[in-house]
Amino acid sequence: MHRGKGMKFVGDSRIPLEKKSNLPKDYSEYPGRTEAFWPNFLLKEWLVGAVFLVGFLSLTLAHPSPLEGMADPTSSGYIPLPDWYFLFLYELLKYEFASQDFILLGILVLPGIAFGALLLAPFLDNGPGRRPHQRPIAVGMMVLALASVIWLTYESAAKVDWEARAEANKPIPPGQEVDTEDPGYAIYENSCLSCHGEMLQGGAAGPPLVGTDKSAEEIAKIAVEGIGSMPPEQFKGTEEELKQLVDFIVSVNESQK
Ligand code: HEC
Repeated sequence: MHRGKGMKFVGDSRIPLEKKSNLPKDYSEYPGRTEAFWPNFLLKEWLVGAVFLVGFLSLTLAHPSPLEGMADPTSSGYIPLPDWYFLFLYELLKYEFASQDFILLGILVLPGIAFGALLLAPFLDNGPGRRPHQRPIAVGMMVLALASVIWLTYESAAKVDWEARAEANKPIPPGQEVDTEDPGYAIYENSCLSCHGEMLQGGAAGPPLVGTDKSAEEIAKIAVEGIGSMPPEQFKGTEEELKQLVDFIVSVNESQK
């Protein structure tokens, strides 16, 4: 006898006899709570999308993003700054609890919690109500997130001296390049470049040294003693190196007269 032959198979109560289709119920079965996807819903989406698109396009036309000088990986005077929409993350890293020993908190844990919370969104206040007061947790989290992002962005943007930055990052005009092979340049690079710019053109933290009215003796003095808001002891080295440095700055000024 073959296996199974003459055997009666019984129905499994878990499998319905009648096959039901997987189609969702018609929206007319939820009166007042839904609307037709086509055309009602889609039209609304498109309208909102179109308004934003035109808005953004007008904004970019009215305020084209400014271009800085050519990117230079060897420049140590340049302070990189993220675009405005990431400034808040950048600012976060300046807080004590999110930097140094706690840097993991700043770069991983805190942003992780914030963005991970997005995953929770479908499970928070998932009642049928769609009004803000019926979804206090989700709305509260959103308001908190929005407020922190706006605050951090503001804090960060307010600290940047945008004009000095734009000035420092201006493309260097042709003919204003300096001789980077000069032995004085290496000393300049180590001690002065971070404030006075790669081509002596000045930077966010110091005035240009091209076109200075200071004499060689004065420059040497300033390099060691500082002047005004320039801290002293920027130059630490031998007399000979100081002479090379000063000769270099003077020669740049002479070549560009
Ligand atoms: C920490 C940033 C910083 C560094 C580094 C620095 N300077 Fe300065 N320097 C300044 C500032 C700021 C001024 C403007 C001071 C003022 O007038 O109040 C200045 C002014 C000067 C001036 C006078 C410019 C003028 O025309 O009046 C000279 C010259 C000068 N620096 C040379 C040097 C040299 C040489 C070095 C490297 C050994 C150097 N600086 C390093 C910030 C810096």
